[in-house]
Amino acid sequence: MPRQLNGKVLKNKNLQSCYYLLEIYCPWIASRIKPGQFIMLRTSEHPYPLLRRPFSVFYTRGGSSSEGRLAILYKVVGKGTQKMTEWKEGQKINLIGPLGNGFTLPPHSYSSEIILIGGGIGVVSLYLLAERLKGRELYVLIGGKTQEDILCRNEFKKLTSNLLIATEDGSTGFRGTVVDLFSTIKGKFNRGPYYLYSCGPMEMLKDLRRNLSFRMAEKKFVAQVSLEARMGCGFGACWGCVVKTRTPNLSHRVGPDSVGLYQRVCKEGPVFNLEEIVWD
Ligand SMILES: Cc1cc2nc3c(=O)[nH]c(=O)nc-3n(C[C@H](O)[C@H](O)[C@H](O)COP(=O)(O)OP(=O)(O)OC[C@H]3O[C@@H](n4cnc5c(N)ncnc54)[C@H](O)[C@@H]3O)c2cc1C
Ligand code: FES
Repeated sequence: MPRQLNGKVLKNKNLQSCYYLLEIYCPWIASRIKPGQFIMLRTSEHPYPLLRRPFSVFYTRGGSSSEGRLAILYKVVGKGTQKMTEWKEGQKINLIGPLGNGFTLPPHSYSSEIILIGGGIGVVSLYLLAERLKGRELYVLIGGKTQEDILCRNEFKKLTSNLLIATEDGSTGFRGTVVDLFSTIKGKFNRGPYYLYSCGPMEMLKDLRRNLSFRMAEKKFVAQVSLEARMGCGFGACWGCVVKTRTPNLSHRVGPDSVGLYQRVCKEGPVFNLEEIVWD
């Protein structure tokens, strides 16, 4: 069960352009969070912005000890994240977590390559997963609009020698989207099924799905994606974050029948099987 707790800011520093790294002292959540799960942060003590904001956990340190801390990497896009840039070391903040269902890891018997594809800020939710998969054969593909949007490059470098970068303007790495980049190498994955994990904007995930549909029909890939929906409550109460899925969500038939086809990104997600989502 998630808990609402007070944490303490340990570090809040600008990394590059509009991206910040925030470290929070909160042993209870830090020791329980699983790759792909998220937290909701109250960004202001004042009534505005009222709603908490969802963030993936980038990494945790300190294990289950009383030193336990967690980090988020955030992009300043609006009022809430702008407020967060003002947080100082030692400041108390309020958070809820762990929330949602994270990634399902490959079984121990799985020995083939594992592919991680992150677009923009979405790459953050893949790092904790990559740490848990350390020692396996990882391919990590990171994409962004320009080199300023390429995140966590040095961290991933420590985990794999198969790190590939794409920028849409070509300022570093491959010129094109990260899905275009994946297209150039996907031919080498011809046995399968391969585990593939991805997070990024909806358009990118749609593109990935189009790109993979043929290979998925052949059962070459098992793909899990983490969705970035706008959220109200973050724990399943408001139905403000739903996504249409292919299979009925029988455990939540509380409203009209069609509700059964919708799943909450915050509660049943944010991680779903790629094929489970209705993308059109
Ligand atoms: C499960 C999950 C994990 C996330 N992890 C991270 C993370 O690790 N780092 C990070 O920087 N952000 C992450 N986000 C997105 C983050 O929650 C939003 O950027 C944040 O809520 C914006 O708050 P704001 O008050 O600054 O912006 P607002 O003032 O609320 O909005 C500013 C602009 O951003 C757009 N926007 C806001 N939220 C989203 C969203 N979820 N998806 C697409 N567009 C949005 C709005 O449409 C608007 O144009 C995550 C979202 C989800 C659902
Ligand atoms: S944000 Fe309220 S149900 Fe998902």
